Amino acid sequence: MNNIYPIFDTVLTRNDKEKLLKQKGLVVWMVGLSGSGKSTLATALENSLHARGNLTQLLDGDNLRVGINNNLTFSPEDRKENIRRAAETAKLFMNAGLVTICSFISPTEEIRAMAREIIGEGYVEVYIDCPLEVCESRDVKGLYAKARKGEIKEFTGISAPFEIPKQPEIKIDTANQELESSHQQLVNQIIERIKY
Ligand code: PPS
Repeated sequence: MNNIYPIFDTVLTRNDKEKLLKQKGLVVWMVGLSGSGKSTLATALENSLHARGNLTQLLDGDNLRVGINNNLTFSPEDRKENIRRAAETAKLFMNAGLVTICSFISPTEEIRAMAREIIGEGYVEVYIDCPLEVCESRDVKGLYAKARKGEIKEFTGISAPFEIPKQPEIKIDTANQELESSHQQLVNQIIERIKY
């Protein structure tokens, strides 16, 4: 039979969806210590993009860990599985044309290489650079104090490793820069990358 009804056999691509949304699908993968400013900047970035008409999705460790990742701990193996599931989820959103903003500590080069590999073209690593001493002095959630007292095991930066990203696409210094200029720097760089 000829292709009389193309809607039944035309598989829509990422490009079809990007065309509809007039934006490039992307995964903005924000990496950094707890308290570095990842979630704050991720939320601000999403708001700025939304306000200019972009369709976005935010994924972060705290949220995924109460849902699809609620069986995972902070052991090295479980962190890897946490990031694997997060990356696979982010890829689905990216392939639907969304600007997907991910905020996960993603503590090791191995874990980040895996996320980059899963997501493929469209992965943009953003290192939220802030020294441990500054994150600890902020201690927004009181977790560092608990980790120092031994009440939280395997806490990143204290009793579990954090490897500084070697080649992030974007680096934001939140220790020496005002939040608003960090935010503006990030928004400008992402807008360039999502132009359709
Ligand atoms: S990871 O390493 O990428 O799997 O971590 P992630 O999924 O981003 O989760 C980090 C948030 O979990 C809280 N939390 C801990 N973080 C680090 N180490 C330990 N042991 C830990 N226990 C709980 C903490 O609120 C992290 O959130 P952020 O936004 O990074 O502060």
